[in-house]
Amino acid sequence: MSFVRRGDRMNPSQQRAWDELSPRWVVKVPQGPRSTSIAPDAPPLDFTEVFGREAPVHVEVGIGDGATIAHVAEQHPEINFLGFEVFLPTTASALGRCKRAGVENVRIVVADAEQAFEQIIPPSSVTEVWTFFPDPWHKKRHHKRRIINPRFAASVAKALIQGGRWRIATDWEDYAEWIAGVMDGIPELVDEFPEGAPRWNLRPITRFEQRALNAGRKVADMVYVKR
Ligand SMILES: C[S@@+](CC[C@H](N)C(=O)[O-])C[C@H]1O[C@@H](n2cnc3c(N)ncnc32)[C@H](O)[C@@H]1O
Repeated sequence: MSFVRRGDRMNPSQQRAWDELSPRWVVKVPQGPRSTSIAPDAPPLDFTEVFGREAPVHVEVGIGDGATIAHVAEQHPEINFLGFEVFLPTTASALGRCKRAGVENVRIVVADAEQAFEQIIPPSSVTEVWTFFPDPWHKKRHHKRRIINPRFAASVAKALIQGGRWRIATDWEDYAEWIAGVMDGIPELVDEFPEGAPRWNLRPITRFEQRALNAGRKVADMVYVKR
């Protein structure tokens, strides 16, 4: 389990956003024993049905308050964007952002992305995956909770189409090194910028990035391509 539930209490405006907007943007998947787990017999997602059209699918893992997915989706109406998040209050905020951005090409799943990639995302179906500012889990005994781990990386590699990209950003140097180590074990994923990727120009500065910059930490972008 890569995540911890920090309580599901929404503030009144998040609750209103959830009630009004979740029927439009949230995709329900059969739930497993925990609130963010997926039932073992859940069928694979049919993206054409989920989005009501055929288009390339980009998946964001851990959308937080939706700043990135809403922004990029607004810039790229020709692409379908699927966001995963386990924390309900920020997901409600993300719905508000989708509404304000007026985007029709976003869907959100409230579930564990690790499980989703193993169970319900079809092989070779995704053009891009994004994981921006994943929880760093600093303590050594918690490293096993890091979402970018060998098992998850293998399932992302399987989900990507040939030539598809996994975009990552982190503000923790040791996590960047850890990620490079994980990727070394996944021969299908090739580092597109071994000297360090440029900052992706479509990525807005989120709360997490701003906090890192304020603290004087450098942000590393990484891009891996499926061969
Ligand atoms: C540090 S935040 C970064 C949020 C956003 N990417 C940004 O840059 O602002 C990490 C997010 O990943 C979510 N998360 C952690 N584990 C997850 C999982 N297994 N599946 C989906 N989301 C997850 C957390 O709830 C949190 O919102």
